[in-house]
Amino acid sequence: MSADLQKKTAGEAAAERIQPGMTVGLGTGSTAAWFVKALAARNLADLRCVPTSEATADLARSLGLPLTTLEDVARIDITVDGADEVGPGLALIKGGGAALLREKLVWERSDRCVVIADAAKVVKALGRFALPIEVVAFGHKTTANRIADVLADHEIGMPARLRTADRGIVRTDGGNVIYDAACGVIADPARLAADLKSLTGVVEHGLFLDLAEEAIIGTDTGVETLH
Ligand code: 5RP
Repeated sequence: MSADLQKKTAGEAAAERIQPGMTVGLGTGSTAAWFVKALAARNLADLRCVPTSEATADLARSLGLPLTTLEDVARIDITVDGADEVGPGLALIKGGGAALLREKLVWERSDRCVVIADAAKVVKALGRFALPIEVVAFGHKTTANRIADVLADHEIGMPARLRTADRGIVRTDGGNVIYDAACGVIADPARLAADLKSLTGVVEHGLFLDLAEEAIIGTDTGVETLH
């Protein structure tokens, strides 16, 4: 089964978890898009959906899902989102789609977070996927120097690279930039998370620790659930 079919299978299985009347956080990325499509197809009554990016908001709106904002909900019942890596204890790397800040804001206000992914995303240790770090655009090169110091302290030799695309420097929905840190193996994700977060200029990083309660992994034969 292709990775895309595995993503679709996981997204569709997650959509079955949603009940009428729920407030639902909608993740960002190609796997989350399958979930959004499957959720819309269920046509459940009285849903309220909180999108984690402008791209997801556009998709959800086009499918007729009722949208609200984080400001307008007290709590979110469940958030379903993709990931770039799913490690031991459901520790995650996210942010490949540059939506990590809004994603983390939504995840942290959710009673339940479910991650959906294709089987290749499951790893024994985090770090093969370059860790996204969202940085305020003002003075970002000096912040990058401080990030390099933190990475060196974690015995990660490669400096983080500013994310660019065809149209130049990638900007997040919040107008920030992204640095991607090729870590190799992250020996102590919690310490790295704390050290990065302590830097002025770093808005957020893609380590999602102790947030996911369940992972639905699309496999060649169906789905596997991890807790
Ligand atoms: C966006 C994310 C995505 O969930 C992550 O990059 C996975 O994307 P995909 O489902 O397309 O593989 O964190 O910021």
